[in-house]
Amino acid sequence: MILVTGVTGGLGGLILNGLKGIDDIEVVPGTRKGDGSAARRIDFDDPASLAEGFAGVDVLVFISAGYAEDDIVLARHGAVADAARAAGVKHVIYTSLASSGERMTIALPHRWTEDRLANGPFEVTILRNGLYTEIPLGLALTGAAMAAETGIFAAPFGDGRVSVVAKEDLADIAVRVAVETDRDLAAGNQSRHAGRTYELEGPTPIGGNEIAEVLTESLGRPVTYQSISLSDLRQGLEGSGMLPYQITHTLSIFSNVKAGWTEARHSDLEALLPNVPRPVHDSIVAAVKAGGFESQSLSSSGES
Ligand SMILES: NC(=O)c1ccc[n+]([C@@H]2O[C@H](COP(=O)([O-])OP(=O)(O)OC[C@H]3O[C@@H](n4cnc5c(N)ncnc54)[C@H](OP(=O)(O)O)[C@@H]3O)[C@@H](O)[C@H]2O)c1
Repeated sequence: MILVTGVTGGLGGLILNGLKGIDDIEVVPGTRKGDGSAARRIDFDDPASLAEGFAGVDVLVFISAGYAEDDIVLARHGAVADAARAAGVKHVIYTSLASSGERMTIALPHRWTEDRLANGPFEVTILRNGLYTEIPLGLALTGAAMAAETGIFAAPFGDGRVSVVAKEDLADIAVRVAVETDRDLAAGNQSRHAGRTYELEGPTPIGGNEIAEVLTESLGRPVTYQSISLSDLRQGLEGSGMLPYQITHTLSIFSNVKAGWTEARHSDLEALLPNVPRPVHDSIVAAVKAGGFESQSLSSSGES
């Protein structure tokens, strides 16, 4: 039996859906909101829910729960490792952070969790996920209105680019690893993915110039990229309602981008995906369109 945590979240939900349709696979959803009927209650902040929730689970798909200060995340993730051990879980698949993010502040709880899981006694597979496509996509959407008006796309990339990856691709790989692991265990073997750490970053790095090109195409007017400073970014974030730890992490991500450290050097993405990775360019075009930012030339020709 496979249990997926965090199924009301974006990644957990996609993984659950991918596993649901497979005949020989028994999958159980885990969520803080579970009541034991449609889904089990899995709350990393409540170890009692884990002792009960992990009963009978062979393969645990452990989605990181990183939205908190580090000490809280470490306590949560440590509780998952302890409960998996106590419940006799055979294999844990953990969604971590890609190595191009090694120097980001968000890396610390991920690497700590990897170390903690390595103590077993279960087998482990680490899925080192790249930054989601949603990050440049969010910046493109935020900047689209100003770009439509002024022809400038302002964002804190410097000259850096990021090897982002579509969440759907990450989910497809998690589904594959979970299914193959469950089948290997059912056949009395160790998973072919046991002890493996996969780097999962996209093949096409994207930065400010690339987003400006997409906006040029989508808005039907020339858009130029202009880098903004980390001080300006900090000022903008401080007035945005973000929590202090989120501001720390966001600044750290963009310090790394500006330093040129966020392009993948090696990725297992294409080797593990059944299809070619979803192009980040297409996601941004679709999001800008869905955000109501139509091409000016198209809308004006429609009106005449
Ligand atoms: N690679 C990246 O670019 C990136 C970006 C942002 C975040 N992340 C990390 O990747 C994870 C998954 O991403 P996502 O897009 O699916 O995030 P998401 O949509 O925000 O979902 C995160 C889910 O984590 C679960 N969760 C939160 N606190 C929990 C707790 N105390 N115990 C158990 N589950 C808890 C919740 O699921 P339930 O409500 O169903 O319990 C929540 O919906 C995030 O949690 C974060 O650690 C990665």
